[in-house]
Amino acid sequence: MVALVLCAALTYGCQSKSTQNKSSETVVDTLANTTFESQIDGKEVKLFQLKNEKLTVTLTNYGARLVSLNVLDKEGKNTDVILGYDAAKAYKDNFNNYYGAIVGRYGNRIGNASFKLNGQAYQLEKNDGEQSLHGGTNGVYNKVWDLLENTPTSVTLAYTSPDLEAGYPGTVKMEVTYTLSEDGGLLIDYQATTDKETVLNLTNHAYFNLNGAGDTSILDHELQIDANTITEVDANLIPTGKSLPVKGTAFDFTKPKAIGLHIGDENAQLKIGKGYDHNFELDKKDDFQHVASVYAPKTGIEMQIYTSEPGLQFYSGNFMKDSDPKGKNGKVYPYRSAFCLETQHFPDAPNHPNFASTVLKPGDTYHSKTTYRFSVR
Ligand code: GLA
Repeated sequence: MVALVLCAALTYGCQSKSTQNKSSETVVDTLANTTFESQIDGKEVKLFQLKNEKLTVTLTNYGARLVSLNVLDKEGKNTDVILGYDAAKAYKDNFNNYYGAIVGRYGNRIGNASFKLNGQAYQLEKNDGEQSLHGGTNGVYNKVWDLLENTPTSVTLAYTSPDLEAGYPGTVKMEVTYTLSEDGGLLIDYQATTDKETVLNLTNHAYFNLNGAGDTSILDHELQIDANTITEVDANLIPTGKSLPVKGTAFDFTKPKAIGLHIGDENAQLKIGKGYDHNFELDKKDDFQHVASVYAPKTGIEMQIYTSEPGLQFYSGNFMKDSDPKGKNGKVYPYRSAFCLETQHFPDAPNHPNFASTVLKPGDTYHSKTTYRFSVR
């Protein structure tokens, strides 16, 4: 019965009970035993599965989020590399960890939860001390999106955010398409339009552990980021407006380095972030290019990141607690057992004219692209 209900929920590729527990010549969906869906805000919450030879990915229209992302490790073992829950309700109850979701209208922080556009002040919700984080509690990650299109390897979800929702001007129509590619890539393509001038900064907030979600730590993962500077933040994690060179500091990931190697260094910025929680200012030459990679020696799984965005928020799971509610398949997700690499425009850009603009005007189309590509070595 459970399997039947799930089959009804999945638009594509539901597996029979006899095949789902077999390991591992092919990637499988680790959520295959759950009843996920329910109604939120009177709308149906569904699961969608995308699948090719390299990846099996499950998504939901609640927050247009990634629920599972399964790859094979170097021994051919199926590994779900992102954190999540196996019920829509658990996502709703724990909405403020943003697992796998599209966050916005403004990903990351806006200082004093306010900004000015054309002389007009806009007040946002303060959901992080005096600041606004990820669009506030009424952000797009907390909305049920509509399904526009679904094929075996792609899904397009859409959401229309009404004028002044969460305090932001303009009716903004957004579409996010997730597409699998044969080389192990998951492309996330964002498009949006507005009927009034506004600011917009969308990103995906997946929490990764390349040893498998539920593994105890990500400190052994080797990270490389093409960034010679980070955006300096004040005690509230709001940019001061200054860039800091990474050279000679714990923030130098220009060559691959274990995340744990310098995370405990005496460093004022690490102290403020309680670890890494910073915008890396990407050395960009092209519109869409390789900007970062992460490698987990234990499983041999490697993730490459390509993006059109100028920044990358590296968050080392510093607010995670061993006592957090359990995730998929009853797994515990302890302190620093996941990392996020969120492609973005810089935090608080609406209050910093020297940062790349996040203004979207009527008649223009917001467009952002990021690929997370998986392989083993
Ligand atoms: C972002 C922020 C962090 C934290 C997480 C969610 O990465 O920069 O400070 O709020 O989201 O917990």
